Amino acid sequence: MKIKVTDRNGKNSEIEGNDGWTVMEALRDNGFPVAAECGGACACATCHVYVEESWAEKLPEPKAEEIDMLDMALAVQPNSRLSCQIVCSTETDGIAVTIAPE
Ligand code: FES
Repeated sequence: MKIKVTDRNGKNSEIEGNDGWTVMEALRDNGFPVAAECGGACACATCHVYVEESWAEKLPEPKAEEIDMLDMALAVQPNSRLSCQIVCSTETDGIAVTIAPE
């Protein structure tokens, strides 16, 4: 599946995400500066991204753990999500995310 990424400098690119993996893993594997300190356990918020509005509403609601972690993230917006909690699948093919500030 494809993921459209805008980096912290506003540069756009498109990467490939393996089905069943997370958007965080796809970003990290493609060299984007996503610290992902907890390795995807929903316990650090360093994989924070903004999901393009039209996609934000299509994603499953965040779990309580994700909402708690986002409370601690910087520059949170209504479309903020933790990229380790977004699974690559046919449903998320073409999703567009912007990497949030550190
Ligand atoms: S990698 Fe730590 S919350 Fe996503």
